[in-house]
Amino acid sequence: MAVIENAKLTVIGAGAVGTSLAYAALIRESAREVALYDIDTARVEAEVLDLAHGTPFTGSSSIRGGSDLGVVDGSNVVVITAGAKQKPGQTRLELAGVNVGIIRELMPRLVERAPNAVFVVVSNPCDVLAVAAHRFSGLPASRVFASGTVLDSSRLRWLLASRLGVAASSTHAMIIGEHGDSEFPLWSQARIGPVPLDHWDAGHGPLDREELDRIADEVKNAAYTVIAGKGATNYAIGLSGARIVEAILRDEGAVLPVSSVLDGYHGVSGVALSVPSVVDAGGVRRVIDVPFDDEEQQRFAASAATIERSLAELGI
Ligand code: 2OP
Repeated sequence: MAVIENAKLTVIGAGAVGTSLAYAALIRESAREVALYDIDTARVEAEVLDLAHGTPFTGSSSIRGGSDLGVVDGSNVVVITAGAKQKPGQTRLELAGVNVGIIRELMPRLVERAPNAVFVVVSNPCDVLAVAAHRFSGLPASRVFASGTVLDSSRLRWLLASRLGVAASSTHAMIIGEHGDSEFPLWSQARIGPVPLDHWDAGHGPLDREELDRIADEVKNAAYTVIAGKGATNYAIGLSGARIVEAILRDEGAVLPVSSVLDGYHGVSGVALSVPSVVDAGGVRRVIDVPFDDEEQQRFAASAATIERSLAELGI
């Protein structure tokens, strides 16, 4: 694999998440060309125009888009944000029925338009939709996966870094499992710089269990908190999506907790869950076999069972 020159990113869905992702990608110069697709012509054209008006300040990226699927042609990465979004108090899993229908309809048409692209599902419940997208596209699991807990891990790193007074870039910690209520931090592997988190002096010794649980709860409930206040989450998921796109288009081999369909990972097969994964131009090059302690193993199995139940209810 190699860095993709003149790379094209297409974002499917011009709602709050899709437009924030396109905006982040333009500002960060994640791709040479950004395209936006939505079935709502007036909306997508207005969003594209608004974004285009800012491109003199965004470096080399350009934006175009519309409601014709031809917009997708030639994409190197397609990010899917289309679908119903959570209402206040609603879980991500409650969106499954409607959004699986959208993925079922959309995936074959997207693959026809961009047969060599890597597909990243951001719409929720993203783990369930990653399995559906894998199934309905016929693509290998490496080339169709979900943004998963990249966002939750970013929330965790920000919270930990703020609490400990260190840079988030030096805070190495991940949320894994479902991007949803059964997610959990991989505390056993968390580090600040090179120091294991349970050896880091947080003022009066290492963070105790109560404080770790409080931080994990805050991460888990972050989306509910933001949605209660403003109706949606968009900026942080937009940045997280742009970050994943960069790992692909720059052939980085970045280790990110994206969600791909697993095959015998800690006893889980046929279900998509976030685990540390090497992401490069081919998509998920490999998932990393990281040791879990007993509690983490139990929680990972519970996350898998949650997604399995949802898939069974949907007949997938
Ligand atoms: C988030 O975690 C709602 O999945 C979205 O912000």
